[in-house]
Amino acid sequence: MDNFVYMILPYVTIIVFIAGLIWRIRTWWARPRAKAVLFPAAKNNLVAAGKVVGDIILFGKTFSISKALWAMAIIFHVGLLLVVLGHIRTVTEIGFLWSWFNLDEEGIKDVANAMGLTAGGIMLAGTVLLLTRRFTPNMRVISIFQDYFVLVMLLGIVLTGMSMRLWMPIHAEEVQHYARGMLTFAPAVEIHNNIFFWHFFLAQMLIMYLPFSKLVHLVSKPVAESWTMR
Ligand code: HEM
Repeated sequence: MDNFVYMILPYVTIIVFIAGLIWRIRTWWARPRAKAVLFPAAKNNLVAAGKVVGDIILFGKTFSISKALWAMAIIFHVGLLLVVLGHIRTVTEIGFLWSWFNLDEEGIKDVANAMGLTAGGIMLAGTVLLLTRRFTPNMRVISIFQDYFVLVMLLGIVLTGMSMRLWMPIHAEEVQHYARGMLTFAPAVEIHNNIFFWHFFLAQMLIMYLPFSKLVHLVSKPVAESWTMR
């Protein structure tokens, strides 16, 4: 199983993710675009661009529909952004940042742990809130299996990620060595940490599923907004 998850699955994941995304974008591209101007129409392209960027970064449309959903979405996506930034360290060390703050090895470990737990904690809060929302009476009737599935997958990934920080530490150099080997087509089974195994496995499952799921809004939202907003 280790051989499969560490040496084969990463390549399958990358191929399925890229091919899935290309397929998805091609199907959007082939669809007829709405000619109608949606109300309220922006006065000119600059105003339209401002609206698009504002909506993508600050979720303006969600804010006008539901303040509670907006707050949950902001918490979740801020957590996700911080976690993604933190994952740069799974591939390369950010030495310049540590030397700015004059940190020694112990200091780096403490700061990385504090930042990782903060980022993970924010993302965990957002995921739990979004999942709880699905169980409210109004949402329950319109929720389908996939709605719960992506949130439960995310919960599993966040909890295993945070568990490594709390209970089964893994050395950043160990992960970087493996990741670089894998990215240069010389993968090896060199990590023996059960929690990392499940974190990595679940993350790959979710990444493969992303182009075919509602999570594709990470890509589709900017495209759809800029096509339809006038
Ligand atoms: C869907 C994609 C992923 C999500 C949402 C995710 C999420 C998280 C979260 C929330 C944490 C805990 C907070 C933190 O330490 O930053 C974490 C930790 C971690 N993740 Fe991921 N992760 C993903 C993919 C991956 C992948 C592909 C790898 C392997 C290259 C990975 C390796 C790690 C490691 C090693 C830690 C623990 C860091 C440490 O203790 O030093 N993650 N992840």
